[in-house]
Amino acid sequence: MRIAIVGCGYVGSALASHWHQQARHWLRVTTTRSERLAELAPLADDVRLLDAADPDQLRQVLETTEAAVFCLAPGGSRQVNADGYEATYLRSMEAVAAVMPQLPGLQQLVYTSSCSVYGEATGLVEETTPPQPFEPHARILRHAEELLLGCRAPHRRVAILRLGAIYGPGRELEPRFRSLAGSRRQGDGSSLISWIHRDDVVTALAWAVEQGFDGLLNLVDDEPISVRELVDRSCRAACLEPVIWEGDAASPAEGAAPATGRRISNRRLHQLGLELQHPKLAILAAPRCPGSESQPPS
Ligand SMILES: NC(=O)c1ccc[n+]([C@@H]2O[C@H](COP(=O)([O-])OP(=O)(O)OC[C@H]3O[C@@H](n4cnc5c(N)ncnc54)[C@H](OP(=O)(O)O)[C@@H]3O)[C@@H](O)[C@H]2O)c1
Repeated sequence: MRIAIVGCGYVGSALASHWHQQARHWLRVTTTRSERLAELAPLADDVRLLDAADPDQLRQVLETTEAAVFCLAPGGSRQVNADGYEATYLRSMEAVAAVMPQLPGLQQLVYTSSCSVYGEATGLVEETTPPQPFEPHARILRHAEELLLGCRAPHRRVAILRLGAIYGPGRELEPRFRSLAGSRRQGDGSSLISWIHRDDVVTALAWAVEQGFDGLLNLVDDEPISVRELVDRSCRAACLEPVIWEGDAASPAEGAAPATGRRISNRRLHQLGLELQHPKLAILAAPRCPGSESQPPS
């Protein structure tokens, strides 16, 4: 198959590397930065400079491909705020929608969206649960999904994978949360976060393309974990002071979605036969901390 990966950052590069090692497909990858062309060259048959928000560039990159995987995200020097999201996701998906009529050979679009589109949905959240995005970022991601879903046609499938928070090599969890040690946090930390390891994202994306998957899929591991437990474990593993939680679930930090007891379901993923290499977060090691007589409880 001839495949393009649009956006070759943490996930896109890992997917390219996976496919390139297998040598089963012809692969094109993209970057917005000329200084990355040499770095990406070993991962693909072709590397192109592309700002996906530019319809002409996008058409040229996609016109000889049968499948496109969109793994783009605002990052680097781009601002990670609603404006940055709009510039990256909305403008790019508008460009995708605009060029589709000129790309009859493009049979599948796969997009890495986010579980944040579910927003204020409560209880067990399946793919059939109506999205209720709360934050401006999430509303933009939902809009981007809608634009992509509008590209469906009898000859073109659209797969949207809604990812949990990604972790993996180079994006380990503990360092992210250790900086909170000893701080006071609003709320009770009871809201659940769903995670997914980068290796499982790669497997699911490759599967979606190779099976010609059409539809929505929650891509999260089997065991969501509360913010509180995750932060506590991270601090304990580093022998740091615990976080002090102030308030209750009904008083989230300013701007944050209320803790709704939302739990993202990955039932469909299992029904489809996708096996997770990392079904839950590895328990953080609880070391013998200096000055403590016994090993802290895990
Ligand atoms: N990180 C998470 O926890 C998380 C959670 C849920 C969903 N997701 C989704 O998962 C996907 C992959 O995330 P990631 O962590 O791999 O992102 P990443 O490491 O930040 O990589 C994103 C890539 O997108 C490219 N890009 C940015 N703007 C672009 C544009 N206008 N046109 C073309 N390419 C553009 C960048 O290319 P260059 O820098 O090479 O120019 C960058 O390499 C994203 O769609 C993200 O929204 C991530």
